Amino acid sequence: MRRFRSSPGRGGGARHGRVTEGVILVARRLRRAPSTVLRTVPLPVPGRILARALAVVSALLLTAAGQAPSADWAMVGRTLDEQHFSPLTQINDKNIGRLGLAWYADIQTERGMEGSPLEIGGVLYNVQPWNIVTAYDATNGKVLWRYDPQVPTRFGRLACCDIVSRGLAAYDGKIYVATLDGRLIALDARSGRPVWSVLTVDNSKNYTITGAPRVYAGKVLIGNGGAEMGVRGYVTAYDAETGKQDWRFYTVPGDPAKMPEGAASDSVMAKAAKTWTGQWWKAGGGGTVWDSLAYDPKLRLVYIGVGNGSPWAQHWRSPGGGDNLFLASIVALNVDTGHYVWHYQTTPGEEWDYTATQQMIFADLKIDGRMRQVIMQAPKNGFFYVLDRRTGQLLSAKTTVPINWASGIDMKTGRPIENPAVRYGKVPAMVSPGAGGAHNFNPMAYSPLTHLVYLPVSETYMGYAAADSFDPAHPGLGTSFSGYDAERKKISEYADAHSRGWLSARDPVTQTEIWRTPDEQKGSGGVLVTAGNLVFQGNIATTFAAYRADTGQKVWQMPVQQVPIAAPITYMVDGVQYIAVNAGWGGGLAHVERSNYTKLFIGKPRLLVFKLGGTATLPPMPKESVEVPELAPPPKVAASADVVAKGEQLYGQNCALCHGVEARGGVKDLRHMSPQTHADFLAIVLGGRRAANGMASFADVLSKDQAEAIHQYLVARANEDWDNPK
Ligand code: HEC
Repeated sequence: MRRFRSSPGRGGGARHGRVTEGVILVARRLRRAPSTVLRTVPLPVPGRILARALAVVSALLLTAAGQAPSADWAMVGRTLDEQHFSPLTQINDKNIGRLGLAWYADIQTERGMEGSPLEIGGVLYNVQPWNIVTAYDATNGKVLWRYDPQVPTRFGRLACCDIVSRGLAAYDGKIYVATLDGRLIALDARSGRPVWSVLTVDNSKNYTITGAPRVYAGKVLIGNGGAEMGVRGYVTAYDAETGKQDWRFYTVPGDPAKMPEGAASDSVMAKAAKTWTGQWWKAGGGGTVWDSLAYDPKLRLVYIGVGNGSPWAQHWRSPGGGDNLFLASIVALNVDTGHYVWHYQTTPGEEWDYTATQQMIFADLKIDGRMRQVIMQAPKNGFFYVLDRRTGQLLSAKTTVPINWASGIDMKTGRPIENPAVRYGKVPAMVSPGAGGAHNFNPMAYSPLTHLVYLPVSETYMGYAAADSFDPAHPGLGTSFSGYDAERKKISEYADAHSRGWLSARDPVTQTEIWRTPDEQKGSGGVLVTAGNLVFQGNIATTFAAYRADTGQKVWQMPVQQVPIAAPITYMVDGVQYIAVNAGWGGGLAHVERSNYTKLFIGKPRLLVFKLGGTATLPPMPKESVEVPELAPPPKVAASADVVAKGEQLYGQNCALCHGVEARGGVKDLRHMSPQTHADFLAIVLGGRRAANGMASFADVLSKDQAEAIHQYLVARANEDWDNPK
């Protein structure tokens, strides 16, 4: 029954990095070296690459003006409009059958790969869990340099949804990476050496960063995450050259007694505070900008996608209700000052983790006979929004999947027509979409040729219930994951039966679906669309596939031993077009989902690069990832029912976020621990034995008795489900 390969921790055990082996060894040695040692290891660089690297600087300057050469992929979404569209046509719907693997690189991680690489002037820059950055020769995978920011592993515990990194920024000869522990670091693009580094968060609070920085108007912008753990969200702009802070915009009001706070948001925080009640600031409020940003250089407007409330349950955050601005909103700011210009709130009084952090795409669309400059978003809440990006005016909003939290959007007020039954109390309420959302981080794409948006969507359901009590000193979700077993079971069964995912091609003008490609289950990846009439996407069926952009016909696929959840990119070097994608299953879905992925057998996470006529092949799947080891039956429960009940509660508060509600799956299925893991339980949970793999020690929050109670609860759950995994 063990579905996820158990494997040695990061830096341990035998690794077989095809193109990276030498570097990995060096990096491993450095990991133990004193922190003053230079962490970057430039390798001998062949002359051809050097010549290209010189071109990088000028390419990066072009990028600054938003005019990336069409051959390159120099920003997360390739261009400032975040369309994930490429004008390259060498690979197209006529010759796609000849697409083959050009090269690949093993990624030394067991965690999710959510980021897309950048490619500039023949150099491919990639980022992986723990924010390790690697520069490759984009034509053959030769490693040029590697930089490990040495993120302390204890930050793994703060990352609700895996220790992922969603990408890099490039500008004027520098590569920017934001780290899980809240630093923003500028690297020299040629050597990988750090140029400057700033701490963007207060490390005494539960902040993390998983998003990609963006460079707009000479400033590097970065948000943060942590709304599952009581933080207050904001975006900061730093001078791209020096790292000096320029402005900061808080997304939710702070303690009114401490206003003004000298932030760009000061001018609008009083307005926002009117939409909150009680002592909201004590719980942080949330509103983290953990992923998406966009920028229109003509309007000089930056758009930030704001996340969910902290804690989730509004009752424990703003007991008298209220819209709770700017949670779950798109907010437009002036790029020079950081000052508020307009906002649109997708989910007033948000309490289902309905972030509006999902990617925002610009396009020019003819709506009601008039050309509009729009910004489009499909946030978690299941609607697809089209707004005028100059004014924030709502132009249209329609659902992309079946949902029950709202029946539509009132176009007069722009507000959702909410279903009152989804405002939850102590009894679990079934709400759709669930916290994973109808659309999550996986980037969508827009083609100015087909005028369609390619959107990976999921139909999801989840039971939400408020906790009996909440103490802002111990931040969390303010929800409950235990009790009301019959209600929970009903919701879980319904969710299991109805959850599904598909790639949806959507006409944003008519708000209709033009075609869809159903997946076996939800969990497929981000999207790339090209002028070759092709849409590329990684699939939960462990394949990488191409579809005709106009019709959705599948025209190519290759088994890749992994689920490429990240968005692919494409670039051209020396007249050859390449498609690149990070293939590594993980992230929030893998963390919180139940045992839905029982048939998912995956191999090593890899960076995969394709070209026409490519002939590289992947080595066979490692034996341990295709053979399910014989499971030893769980040990007998060795504690009273009271202890097990206490363990259940503690599990819900501390572990369910990553190991699944009722321990039904998640990042590691704790119903299926091996005898060795049972023996090591305290060493893992309190001793931090697996910290390098994302399972940091809980010694600061759990006593030995409490950890043992959780262990006994898990043993009880294992026995309950021994013959019946669902
Ligand atoms: C922030 C996410 C996160 C939270 C919260 C979390 N874990 Fe983990 N846990 C992980 C990850 C990631 C792994 C996988 C580590 C590995 O592959 O070795 C893991 C692995 C484990 C393992 C080893 C399982 C095995 O079969 O190898 C145990 C035991 C465990 N966790 C217990 C707990 C307990 C108990 C709690 C709550 C007190 C908890 N975890 C909370 C992320 C988390």
